[in-house]
Amino acid sequence: MSQQIDQAERKSQVAKQRREQPAARASKAEKARADVLAELRPGQSVELLKDLHILTSEGRLNQDSRRKLKQVYHLFQFIEKLLLELPEGGANATLADHGAGKSYLGFIIYDLFFRERGAGHVYGIETRPELVERSRELASRLGFSRMSFLNVSAAQARTSPDLPERIDLVTALHACDTATDDAIAFGLAKNARFMALVPCCQAEVAANLRMGKALALSRTPLAELWRHPLHTREMGSQLTNVLRCLYLEAQGYQVTVTELVGWEHSMKNELIIARHTGQRKASAAERMKELLAQFGLESLGASRFPLPA
Ligand SMILES: C[S@@+](CC[C@H](N)C(=O)[O-])C[C@H]1O[C@@H](n2cnc3c(N)ncnc32)[C@H](O)[C@@H]1O
Repeated sequence: MSQQIDQAERKSQVAKQRREQPAARASKAEKARADVLAELRPGQSVELLKDLHILTSEGRLNQDSRRKLKQVYHLFQFIEKLLLELPEGGANATLADHGAGKSYLGFIIYDLFFRERGAGHVYGIETRPELVERSRELASRLGFSRMSFLNVSAAQARTSPDLPERIDLVTALHACDTATDDAIAFGLAKNARFMALVPCCQAEVAANLRMGKALALSRTPLAELWRHPLHTREMGSQLTNVLRCLYLEAQGYQVTVTELVGWEHSMKNELIIARHTGQRKASAAERMKELLAQFGLESLGASRFPLPA
């Protein structure tokens, strides 16, 4: 008899749990959705993030896309402030994104800044044709008519007839290796008012250091800074970014260097912001030439950091 009661009780408990489970599941999903929404910027199209596969079709963020979104939003915050400084608050601005990849950055800038303004143009520059095709298709599906995607390298973009003579803001988020240098050359050729660059790893200078070309320094304790291969790579990146900053200053830009996001989100975290002032700093040009000479990189000076005679 008591066994029968136990069984009846167990059955009624299971039935109760089954009744409660869908409600508990629904409220958990609701909370997850609210948590995701709290991470998005006001005005952000959730559908766009789903199309970009930053959000899953259920509206969730996985760890990788959360990290990417954080980087893109941080860079957008800097870019938005710069755009607002342009005439008409940047409404007619032209912006080029080098090494665009899947164009997360370009789409989010368009969605949050240009879409409502009804003017301005975003150009994505990317060497992988399948990514360019995908971005074109997505922009057309979303009606983002003032976005163009060019299947050219950052270097080729400088002379591409599909780009206007002037680009107001040049950006590059983790554009590979020397693509950041090509983006800088592009910005100079296009008289960019601003550049916002987050360099990727860089191999060119490290290769030169490896060849023992830092002649003047090789007999000093400073050579220890790049003796181990890992240090050679890090030192190469550091030196490259220092040269880039001096080059921009020598070309009439005021430069600030800051972190993009916390180090836990990205190892490639240096954000270089250059603002055109027109005042070419002779001291920066001198320092750059001296550094190139000390590290035996004069040939790089001619190819990557040419200065007007
Ligand atoms: C690390 S991914 C970054 C993509 C994107 N900016 C992002 O942060 O999600 C670098 C992209 O740059 C592209 N790329 C590499 N070299 C390039 C070049 N010289 N010119 C234009 N794009 C380049 C690659 O095909 C790749 O899609």
